[in-house]
Amino acid sequence: MLKRLLPFVLFVCLSCHLAAQVQPIVIETDHTALVLTVGGNQRLLQSYLGRKLVAGAYPGGGREAYLTAGMDNQFEPALRMVHNDGNASLELKYVSHSVVKNGDVSETSVLLKDPVYPVEVTLHYAAFGASDVIKSWAVIQHREKRPVMMTQYASSLLHFNADAYWLTQFHGDWAREVNIVEEPLTNGIKTIESKLGTRTNFYQTQAFLLSLNGKSTETAGELIAGTLAWTGNFQYTFEVDQRNGLRMRSGINPFASEYYAAPGEIFTTPAFIFTWTDQGKGQASRNLHRWARSYGVLDGKERRLTLLNNWEATHTSFDEHRLVELFDEGKKLGVDLFLLDDGWFGNSFPRNDDKAGLGDWQEDKKKLPSGLGYLVKEAAAKGIQFGIWLEPEMVNPKSDLYRQHPDWILKLPNREEHYGRNQLVLDLVNPQVQDFVFNIVNDMMTKNPGIAFIKWDCNRSMTNAYSPYLKEKQSHLYIDYTRGLYKVMERIRIKYPHLPIMLCAGGGGRTDYGALKYFTEFWPSDNTDGLERVFIQWGYSYFFPSNTISAHVTSMGKQQSLKFRTDVAMMGKLGYDIRVNNFTPVELAFSREAVKTYQRISDVVWQGDLYRLVSPYDEPRAVLMYVSGDRKRAILYNYLLQTRRKDIFGRVKLEGLDPQKKYRLREINLLPDTKSAQPDNDKVLTGEYLMQVGLNLAPGRITPLSSNIFELTEE
Ligand code: DGJ
Repeated sequence: MLKRLLPFVLFVCLSCHLAAQVQPIVIETDHTALVLTVGGNQRLLQSYLGRKLVAGAYPGGGREAYLTAGMDNQFEPALRMVHNDGNASLELKYVSHSVVKNGDVSETSVLLKDPVYPVEVTLHYAAFGASDVIKSWAVIQHREKRPVMMTQYASSLLHFNADAYWLTQFHGDWAREVNIVEEPLTNGIKTIESKLGTRTNFYQTQAFLLSLNGKSTETAGELIAGTLAWTGNFQYTFEVDQRNGLRMRSGINPFASEYYAAPGEIFTTPAFIFTWTDQGKGQASRNLHRWARSYGVLDGKERRLTLLNNWEATHTSFDEHRLVELFDEGKKLGVDLFLLDDGWFGNSFPRNDDKAGLGDWQEDKKKLPSGLGYLVKEAAAKGIQFGIWLEPEMVNPKSDLYRQHPDWILKLPNREEHYGRNQLVLDLVNPQVQDFVFNIVNDMMTKNPGIAFIKWDCNRSMTNAYSPYLKEKQSHLYIDYTRGLYKVMERIRIKYPHLPIMLCAGGGGRTDYGALKYFTEFWPSDNTDGLERVFIQWGYSYFFPSNTISAHVTSMGKQQSLKFRTDVAMMGKLGYDIRVNNFTPVELAFSREAVKTYQRISDVVWQGDLYRLVSPYDEPRAVLMYVSGDRKRAILYNYLLQTRRKDIFGRVKLEGLDPQKKYRLREINLLPDTKSAQPDNDKVLTGEYLMQVGLNLAPGRITPLSSNIFELTEE
């Protein structure tokens, strides 16, 4: 990053020689400061993390910013290195630092060196002013004669001194992702991690909230929200010591991953992205969303495509006639794109279920005798764009690829193969495999330049993994696999910089900012039941803006009305995966109008500030709203869940509006020929009233699994 910015920046080198002369290193955003100082022993200390002080007089002292192992530190280190002589000690002393400013972003780099061994570490901190986000990572290098072994190489280490710590984690499994649990941290180490290799978010989402002193609410309390930009094994440790100090470490999970760094090799850790706030969880989310749209997600400020996917409607049973019919269904709905899912490829081993075909990315001649080109053209003729599903990292044993390239597959040479969804993972460490995966996309796009969207799936994690390419360096597998994936994505993005690609991993198995800089959106879960999705989308909303959270209306959750399922999908990035031809005329009319409404309000939903007003974890309802940057428009969502007779709901006070402005409240997305039951519908109310008095969002009889969407527009 530094290199890329150089031509445009004012370069300020603040290098100092004597520790005593080094001024505090202040890493600042608009409201936050992280302050580093150099101690008497020339070690770098974290002296402060919190609200930016106007006078800028920060405390000194503190704990070592990037703890090493083997000397005086007895806690979890950020870095542990075994030198060529077998000595496992490391001491890092401050040498110099520099700051590079580029608009809203300022990047501080602090160079540290070991006085005895030729090892240097540069700690990088990119501070994003307006979004109050700090991104931190480390670059490790040495000049010993032979490789050094590293058994820990954290991205960041942060210290906290609070009375209590409350950790919110997001864990789950297939079809029940991101369940929220908030618990106090006690003495010892709490770890959140993945060892899955691929699809690594499957059980634990790699994001957390850490509240200081007490639990924070949506609107109050001090906390950090953090997430690691890495699509491989990750690890967070929260170590509370004997004096109630907390060390929070983030990085690649070193499990089974001793890393042998060659002399001169530059080992760059992934970035830990975090925001600090004393304004509660809502502000933390808004900070991350704002950052993500500008810096974290591919084309985060651009339009997204609404789509009709065929997975739930057809699975792998279709032919080209059926697909062309589905184009008509998409057109009828008014969506931008038709997305052809799994099952379109394979000839020696046709992909008629999940047991065969992965790896053979040629159109199935029986199902698609006229090829993909025909489908792209037919779609265009019908006025709809065409997108396609791929799972390029995988292979089924029943495939030509498996027979032709057994050496391209991650599997133990001397043990039985172990499958997940009947498939194996390709050895993406191998540059030939990287070429193969790149060419799946490149060949397809070259032959069919009209393809407008890709869904990139990844349906299994690693087991019995062994890289034929790495030979005796197997402990590099997990890291080099992820690097291999990034190399492929880099190449794809150089050639196809703006092609929308959805990140999917058998539901929400990959949801991280390491990947999202190459992807426009992600698939949060295969569970598309509206009630479940309220919780799932709520969970992801803490870290990801709504334009990244794909939300499709399907026939799952049939006990819920189509209106409810649609209203739920409309809080994210709307799509459909349903048999439109089975809609009743009323349902079709409603859905066509819903797509139009969504297209009209999507700028607020995608780019606006999110306020979570009532959590489904607290009450049997969920209420949230998005407010446009200029506070002239807002979209309010109200979901009444599995309510009981005894439930009485209070008024809901809105947030984020301008108290001085007057807003017209209008219920939208109503079923044809129905009227709003909201007593304040179509009234003009002040922002002050809406935020101080609020709205009764459950007037009259409460109907479980019912929902409303309201639009507020400045008068
Ligand atoms: C898992 C994905 O999450 C689904 O949406 C679908 O694409 C299937 N894979 C296809 O195999």
